[in-house]
Amino acid sequence: MISTVLPTYNRAPLSFVKGEGSWLYEADGRRFLDLGAGIAVNTLGHANPELAQVLKDQADRLWHVSNLYKIPAQEQLADKLTELTFADTCFFTNSGTEAAELAIKMARKYWYEKSQPEKIEIITFAGCFHGRSSAAIAASGSEKMVKGFGPVLEGFVHLPFGEWDSVAEHVTDKTAAILIEPVQGEGGIRVVPDEALRLLRQIADEKGCLLIFDEVQCGVARTGKLFAHEYAGVTPDIMMIAKGIGGGFPLGAVLATEDAASGMTAGTHGSTYGGNPLGCAIGLKVLSIVSDPAFLAELNRKAGLFRQKLEQLVAAHPDIFEEVRGEGLMLGLKCKIGPADLVAKGYAQGVLTVPAADNVVRLLPALNISDEEIAEAVSRIDAAASAL
Ligand SMILES: Cc1ncc(COP(=O)(O)O)c(C=O)c1O
Repeated sequence: MISTVLPTYNRAPLSFVKGEGSWLYEADGRRFLDLGAGIAVNTLGHANPELAQVLKDQADRLWHVSNLYKIPAQEQLADKLTELTFADTCFFTNSGTEAAELAIKMARKYWYEKSQPEKIEIITFAGCFHGRSSAAIAASGSEKMVKGFGPVLEGFVHLPFGEWDSVAEHVTDKTAAILIEPVQGEGGIRVVPDEALRLLRQIADEKGCLLIFDEVQCGVARTGKLFAHEYAGVTPDIMMIAKGIGGGFPLGAVLATEDAASGMTAGTHGSTYGGNPLGCAIGLKVLSIVSDPAFLAELNRKAGLFRQKLEQLVAAHPDIFEEVRGEGLMLGLKCKIGPADLVAKGYAQGVLTVPAADNVVRLLPALNISDEEIAEAVSRIDAAASAL
């Protein structure tokens, strides 16, 4: 008999009743060091007191109002996001997938309004992940995601990951945009080199298409800069964010330049919940904390420590690990074994990690994880590796 919860996940036999900082607690009292953070969501740990206070204060005042009205918390968050980034304008969503939907619509509408309606193609890269909607699975193009869900939305051109020098050849009169994650998450913590991001910007400018960055997983301080593309020193025309910005509350956004957003006039897009007062109040608090240079400096110090310990771990288990990958606190252990085996052994050691493609185990802790917790995390992964 089918479970009452649609069985689209292979769930681990764990269920948590409480979270505190980097720790999750089972009903029986067992505690787990959480290096998944809800897949890069719980930016400031579980039940962060500062965020909880913002949530409670806002909940006592106003939860939801329609986007038919002005929403001050939404305006403040948009002001702050545009102040801190390339963007001139933001649209708020509840998830990364919804942000992907709008980014794709925005790129196509841009060219339609510029009297170039033939420009509808979006270039994406193997291993990418932009969500599970019909447009997002078409963007990924992987058989695993699209099989059985046809007809697949047209207009996506899938290129190999890493062959940056040949991208320009595939940009045609029909290309509306190039869409890329500066660091692939689900694809296995694959960092796009800075030179490659700069090359994509140059191609977009020279050939006349938009550049879209999906920073749903790698954004919001995860990599040690507020946004991962800052390392490359180039900016996109459109950017999707979600996950980390809400610190655990469902919140996402599309950020865009005034020009890129010019086709999105009143009535062209909408959302009942996107940009609601609760989400935006929390997002504003998260952003104000993680954008503080002192917070980012501390994050980078800790990321250096974590990475150093992981390099030692890899050296100690050459039969299990190949390398450490990633940037900041978006780290991956490339394995020589199936990553799911290591993740499962981790459960027995009280440590939660997340598998990804390309034989990678992801480590995406809360950005305020302590030095002691980092040491504890590595020793628990070490024990899990030894048990394999
Ligand atoms: C890069 C990227 N884009 C989009 C998404 C989809 O986000 P959501 O699951 O919030 O819809 C994800 C989720 O893992 C992601 O990692």
